[in-house]
Amino acid sequence: MSRIVYVLNGPNLNLLGKRQPAIYGYETLADVEADCRRTGAELGLEIEFHQSNAEFMIIDWIHEARERAAGIVINPAAFTHTSVAILDALNACEFPIIEVHISNVHRREPFRHHSYVSSVASGVIAGFGTQGYTLALQRLARLIGEAGKTAQAS
Ligand code: DQA
Repeated sequence: MSRIVYVLNGPNLNLLGKRQPAIYGYETLADVEADCRRTGAELGLEIEFHQSNAEFMIIDWIHEARERAAGIVINPAAFTHTSVAILDALNACEFPIIEVHISNVHRREPFRHHSYVSSVASGVIAGFGTQGYTLALQRLARLIGEAGKTAQAS
């Protein structure tokens, strides 16, 4: 069974650490990637880490993941609140998906309260800062492990 996990990041997250640090903190996306790789190694997961400001890139990576991965951790950033296309791509995947937001979107502007992605996510993590990514990987490892056991049993 695949142990590959895609960690996908949407628009403006390349500016992490510099952009609105009072909301998103001072850790950079490179720091987040390093955290994910460290946690992935501990959990026996192979991490494919990507960021793009372009919606079609995120969709193409979801299609790629669909063919070879065991799960996705996704912070769709602003596309969370706008993208039916990303929802459709995720709906074509049969593995667990965890949605991550660095900030607590529910205590921010009302337009951030709705997520297209949540309806397809196994779980949602919001407001745990960048630690949310490693928490998501821990949960995903558990879900992938459980799916593996079911597959072996049947
Ligand atoms: C975000 C929250 C979104 O509303 C926002 O557009 C982002 C980042 C977060 O990680 O808190 O760019 O997804």
